[in-house]
Amino acid sequence: MSALTRRRFAELLAAGGPLAVFAEAAFAESDLERLLRPSRRPPPFHEGENYWSEIREQFFLPEDLAFFNAANLCPAPIPVVEALLERTRRLDRDPSPQVKGELQQERELVRQKLAAYLRVSPEEIVITRNTSEANNLVSSGLDLGPGDEVVIFSDNHPSNHAAWREKARRFGFSVKVVEQVNPHPGADYYLEAFSRAMTSRTRVVAFTHVTNTAGDLLPAKELCALAREKGALSLVDGAQSFGVLDVDLSDMQPDFYTGSAHKWPCGPREAGLLYVNRQVHDRIYPTIVSLYGGAVGISRVLEAMGQRDEPAMIAFGAAIDFQLEIGRAAVEKRAYELRNAAVEELRRIPGVKLWSHPDPARSGAVVTFLPGNLDPRKLAEALYREHGIVLAARGGEDRPGLRLSPHLYNLHAEVERTVAALRRYLSTGL
Ligand SMILES: Cc1ncc(COP(=O)(O)O)c(C=O)c1O
Repeated sequence: MSALTRRRFAELLAAGGPLAVFAEAAFAESDLERLLRPSRRPPPFHEGENYWSEIREQFFLPEDLAFFNAANLCPAPIPVVEALLERTRRLDRDPSPQVKGELQQERELVRQKLAAYLRVSPEEIVITRNTSEANNLVSSGLDLGPGDEVVIFSDNHPSNHAAWREKARRFGFSVKVVEQVNPHPGADYYLEAFSRAMTSRTRVVAFTHVTNTAGDLLPAKELCALAREKGALSLVDGAQSFGVLDVDLSDMQPDFYTGSAHKWPCGPREAGLLYVNRQVHDRIYPTIVSLYGGAVGISRVLEAMGQRDEPAMIAFGAAIDFQLEIGRAAVEKRAYELRNAAVEELRRIPGVKLWSHPDPARSGAVVTFLPGNLDPRKLAEALYREHGIVLAARGGEDRPGLRLSPHLYNLHAEVERTVAALRRYLSTGL
């Protein structure tokens, strides 16, 4: 029993049972100390690198791990882990309808937080399990059939691309694809391309706010307005914008917007978001019909998916609180600062070709690049094993390379360390 003292073990066993002991034993001793520290809120915001070091301290990330894969899966900070553990412990000590009912009420507070965060109303928020589920609730839930057309973007994630194709096969509607262009040709190009692709038969336009491939930022507000003007619905996949860009859905005005808690919001796994504009509540049918829906609006119907993990949903709310305490504008600014620093450094390395547009007006907080003639997968493996640097690798013929997606727990020193390691591999080989 190295990480837990005997006394602490006895205390935990008495208070929370074996699960509580297991939960604590899963953390290293220094992590436990951090969990037990009296103040676990983010420090009050102030300018400078020191502030972000303090934010980093709120995560379990070890000092020597430079984690640049926010586009895939983010770590959760201590208050989020704590909210998850606390509610899990409460429920597993007493899984009565009464305790479950209390947690369901807290779930409604989370809906309110999510609505305020995105500047919409709680009646329009559905808490899903992730973006994939949210995207599929839309493509399965609309009444589409032969003669109807859906316009999608070639750089959509499979949950917003393959899913539409699959449902087109089943329900008989057709799918038209607007091709991505690299480097990002500008907002006007995409507005024109989507406009050209749409016809009087177009019922839905489904695109990605920020792509996970090159980090390309699409003109979401203008594309949603275009769809509306032409009588079509808009689905904006926000997996790479939710929790990092200061998204205002009251301004963007999509019909549907989706996201995951475990990416940029730094929330728990198995929680996500589907926003359904109140104008279209009568256009979408539930795909899953069961008990335990939400209390208000469209969540009554679309969230009734049977037993759910309320502790995870509540921890999603804790993640939103964490970001709000830092400030949404500050989070976005920080991610862009790190992204811009990486872009500037990468542009100076001979042999590196950027797939992401250097102009932040055309890009989210995601940078992808070809690392000369080095194999991206082997390079990502070497960076991780030999330097503790986490980047995502993309193989294949279409924009192969590495993806660096920085977030609020990263430091400039980590960007510098990563660039130095890349330079070394590019000059000496793997
Ligand atoms: C743009 C986009 N959409 C959807 C998803 C799917 O997210 P999840 O696996 O959380 O459902 C991803 C994941 O990377 C993504 O990048």
